[in-house]
Amino acid sequence: MEKRVKGCPSLKGEVTPPGDKSISHRAVILNSIASGKARIANFSSGDDCLAMISCLRALGVEIIEESGLLTVSGVGREGFAEPADVLNARNSGTTMRLLAGLLAAQPFLSIITGDESLRSRPMARLIHPLRTMGAGIWGREYDSLAPLAIRGEQLRGIDYTPPVASAQLKSAILIAGLFAEGGTTVKEPAASRDHTERMLGAMGTDLQHDGTKVALSPPTSLSPIDITIPGDISSAAFWLVAAAIHPNASIKIIKTGINPTRTGIIDVLLEMGANLRIKNERSEGGEPVADLEVESSELVGTQIGGSLIPRLIDEIPLIALAGSLARGTTTIRDAQELRVKESDRIGVTVKELSKLGADIEELPDGMVIHGGRELKGAGCHSHHDHRLAMTLGIAGLVAQGETLIHGAEAVDVSYPGFWQDMDRLTQ
Ligand code: S3P
Repeated sequence: MEKRVKGCPSLKGEVTPPGDKSISHRAVILNSIASGKARIANFSSGDDCLAMISCLRALGVEIIEESGLLTVSGVGREGFAEPADVLNARNSGTTMRLLAGLLAAQPFLSIITGDESLRSRPMARLIHPLRTMGAGIWGREYDSLAPLAIRGEQLRGIDYTPPVASAQLKSAILIAGLFAEGGTTVKEPAASRDHTERMLGAMGTDLQHDGTKVALSPPTSLSPIDITIPGDISSAAFWLVAAAIHPNASIKIIKTGINPTRTGIIDVLLEMGANLRIKNERSEGGEPVADLEVESSELVGTQIGGSLIPRLIDEIPLIALAGSLARGTTTIRDAQELRVKESDRIGVTVKELSKLGADIEELPDGMVIHGGRELKGAGCHSHHDHRLAMTLGIAGLVAQGETLIHGAEAVDVSYPGFWQDMDRLTQ
């Protein structure tokens, strides 16, 4: 699908982002392991989370969707069934990696694949620790790529220091640790999102935290929890940046998760001088939520790197866009993980924003963005990456003339209503 976006005179109104993708994944997989029924409201409508549901159904879990409410009948630790066919995680790294943690402990064979993008993403980081825990797990290209073949075994707990800060990897090991003999600890090089730990704690699992280290003692069972999923800050981020860079904008974002492991984008926009306010802070389902208000802003360049990166990893294409319009230079370092996301997000962000007139130098682990540029509409491509498609859409709102985005349907992966919300806010 192609989407035409025109520079718009004003950008105003309210928007409710879809349910958080990361929390939705955890809510459905952990409640599947629990013993009993749970109801999940505001579950992400994105294709990634639908892929997780279809894999769990193939493992024998009953998941019913009725009037926007998901009911998961947890099968307990021993109730999963061998899938009759290959599981397909489609574009979803979170589905593949979290499920691998579960499958590593099941007494049967499973094979899990994904689309072309997911089949090129690194899996050795997952295979090695799960194998050390005792699982039979193999991948293509000398155990580095999917499809993965997994023969579950009785696992042993592990003390693991992952080579990268990755919530998907940490969560896979913690989920495997639920089924292991003995405790499991994961000590990350920097803190990644902690939704798995929060939810497991709420389900009755004993977890101890010490800095970036988390220690889990395997529970005898998990209690199901009903949860209303907070809005996804990674989806809200598109409107935060849109309003901040547009000269005539005022947007209120209703009910967004503001878990501190995810709010790097808010910190960076405030640092850049954005007119952004956090209102009505409250807590829902063990996660902090708030409303956000943002208006047209005079942004200045900034420098980001180090332990801030995992707190805004999915928002870096948007920060590159904000930096292109800010006064001064913006530097992004330590973000080499972006090269192995749904696309090589450093390469494609530089390539596509440059087509619109942005001035960005590519670094192996980031970008140097020379700000103060005027963007001009042009033809560009999402590279089948949902976050790039939406970043280009927001760029189109502030570019002169018309921007034509090829592969615009990629937004369905995390935010199927994105183009409709854009049309509403620009009217
Ligand atoms: C996610 C973790 C991050 C993030 C992804 C979702 C998760 O990936 O980029 O969109 O739900 O755990 P990594 O764990 O690879 O950093």
